[in-house]
Amino acid sequence: MRRVVDESNDEYFVDEDGGAYELIGSEHRRVGKWNEQWKLVQKEVALTTRPSSTIQISATGHAFEVTDDDHCETPVEAYQDVVPFLEKLCEILGKTKSELQIYDPYYCAGAVIQNLGAFGFSQVYNRNENFYEVVAEDRMPPYDVLLTNPPYSDEHIPQIFRICARSGKPWMILVPNYVYTKGYYSGCLSTQDGSTIRPFYVCPKGRYCYITPEGHREGNANIQKTAPFISFWYLHFAEHTAAVVKWWRKDGHRQSNVVLASRPDALPQNMMGSYDTHRKRVRKKQRETYDKKKRKMEDQAWKKQCEEEEAETKRQWLDFNFGCR
Ligand SMILES: C[S@@+](CC[C@H](N)C(=O)[O-])C[C@H]1O[C@@H](n2cnc3c(N)ncnc32)[C@H](O)[C@@H]1O
Repeated sequence: MRRVVDESNDEYFVDEDGGAYELIGSEHRRVGKWNEQWKLVQKEVALTTRPSSTIQISATGHAFEVTDDDHCETPVEAYQDVVPFLEKLCEILGKTKSELQIYDPYYCAGAVIQNLGAFGFSQVYNRNENFYEVVAEDRMPPYDVLLTNPPYSDEHIPQIFRICARSGKPWMILVPNYVYTKGYYSGCLSTQDGSTIRPFYVCPKGRYCYITPEGHREGNANIQKTAPFISFWYLHFAEHTAAVVKWWRKDGHRQSNVVLASRPDALPQNMMGSYDTHRKRVRKKQRETYDKKKRKMEDQAWKKQCEEEEAETKRQWLDFNFGCR
């Protein structure tokens, strides 16, 4: 077995078949598969009891371990917000919308295919397969851009950023606003040659509301729509990034309602993560004034509603009396 070190400086031992092991005391415990290209260990649950080539189907029919809360699909509004960027990529690559190859590696129920298809992007790859096995076995489909909303549980978010940063290809990742404030974030953005890339950010005006397909949440089957976090797009267009940002500032912004921030400290205040030191705190006095204003508005709205109800009762009373006469 040879010793390897992943990009977080953790040590593993790798056997001839690529199996990765941790040294616990004097014993080697298998934890997953080593990916030489990405310098990461894809941890696989219960790998010791089943070979990686055996596909286990979860209760929801997925070919990988699932977490109930991860099951939700990106709403069409979120795709609409990045359509101008996909169109720009087509222009850069000299492809039509139907030729652009889009890869969404995380599979829920496949809605992304119809959602992007509605905008004319007909080559979308999103299949029920374990993405990490696909990476480890070097079976990624050919693609022009990786576009996804990853699961938020476990290590999925840092994993997808690592994989994308090393790919040297364009990507668009939809994740919660707090991700850029996480300690792991900048470390995930290092490329194969050791440099660090700088994504830019595309923010909607409000919160995206995700959709849980029927039968995908055992715990709470009634939840159909969910918006637990503010989320926005993190994007990188490899060597075209600066040109895309420049195009957006000059012309692109006319095509959509979103805000582009080229750095986290340029994000709109309402999109910043709660631990971002650039986020302006509302002082006690400001909050009191705001609350007072809000109460006043609520009172006015309440008063208006009462007046309307009163007028309606009066109308009905007159109608009734008129009808009786
Ligand atoms: C937040 S959802 C987003 C689905 C889709 N990408 C979208 O944007 O609509 C993430 C999905 O990834 C799935 N997932 C979890 N682990 C995975 C894996 N190893 N390979 C592929 N998909 C996985 C989860 O089951 C979950 O349904």
